[in-house]
Amino acid sequence: MLTSLTKRERFLRAIRREPVDRPPVWLMRQAGRYLPEYRAIKQHHSFSDLCRTPDLAAEVSLQPCRIFDVDGIIVFNDILIPLENMGFSVLFTETGPEVQPPLRSEEILADIHKATFDEAPPVFDTIRRIRAQVGPDVPILGFIGAPFTMAAYAVEGSMSKNFIRIKDIRFQNPNLLKRILEIITETVLGYIRIQIDAGADIVQVFDTWAGILTPSDYREFAQPYQKIIAEAVRKEGHPVILYVNGCAPYLPVIAESHIDVLSVDWRTNLRDAYDALHGRCAVQGNLDPCALFAPPETVADLTRRMIAEFSRCTGHIANLGHGILPNTSVENVHAFVETVRNYRYG
Ligand code: CP3
Repeated sequence: MLTSLTKRERFLRAIRREPVDRPPVWLMRQAGRYLPEYRAIKQHHSFSDLCRTPDLAAEVSLQPCRIFDVDGIIVFNDILIPLENMGFSVLFTETGPEVQPPLRSEEILADIHKATFDEAPPVFDTIRRIRAQVGPDVPILGFIGAPFTMAAYAVEGSMSKNFIRIKDIRFQNPNLLKRILEIITETVLGYIRIQIDAGADIVQVFDTWAGILTPSDYREFAQPYQKIIAEAVRKEGHPVILYVNGCAPYLPVIAESHIDVLSVDWRTNLRDAYDALHGRCAVQGNLDPCALFAPPETVADLTRRMIAEFSRCTGHIANLGHGILPNTSVENVHAFVETVRNYRYG
């Protein structure tokens, strides 16, 4: 019975912690720079153009499914794209994203508005095209950035090492930070609705940079907004996966967050995370992305160990502990995915 599960059934059953033959598998940032097929397309188009062109974005989203036969398709897009609909300009440069104008004052906030999406943004057509190609049996993962992580980019203006500017606002004018978080929350709620209407089955919420917060600041500036989003998605009948890079200090808070799956980074053992969450949600992860630089046999061995150590026969989605790194070899991604696909719960 269980061996005839479709990818969608296996993924949703694992999320609900019902019996499955093996964990479903996909990789965060699976569509991207480590793939020669992606780099070939990227030679002729900028990243922003790819995101804005549904045919190309759908093609790039589908590549990992075709090449590795992963169990889920994440839409090719970026968490920062909806900032453009709020009045920012977002440039993707060699050194990372640049957001203008940096949101550091009341005056700039006055020029920013919540996005309304009266006209469906390109991600809608991208998801429709992916669905048309894969049919109903492969789950599509939509995604958004959580408000704190998006605010971190909007305030800093670019990648940051120690996030001094957003912390400066947090300590000097916490109400300004809350207003920023509220307006971003409204925007991402609209952006998720579009992805769900287009056919996304599951929503992953990336709060990558919430991991820079103290536990009490996490409770005040990250969790409430994640919760609003998670509740809205779950009300629509879709499950929510939350990712926080460096989630360990917040596990007791996350246990109260009403999410379906926690995507665990590599610093925490999956079983420990599951227990700290009081078994209230499934877990995803969590091979160290750098482990994919080891020889393929080592990758296979580490992958089997990751699944076996969790020691439950469901409630686990195999993945990395953060996004796949650009120099990763395709052979090692095959080793990772194949190992999970050949695994059988005893
Ligand atoms: O997972 C996928 O394959 C789908 C696409 C996806 C991208 N970004 C494409 C992308 C997803 C899910 C993201 C999420 C994202 N974007 C996050 C959260 C996840 C994480 O990794 O922590 C964050 C923080 C961003 C912001 C962002 N966008 C950064 C920091 C960068 C530059 C450096 C980097 O990590 O790639 C981007 C650009 C970006 N987003 C690229 C891709 C494929 C690289 C653009 C290129 O090909 O030149």
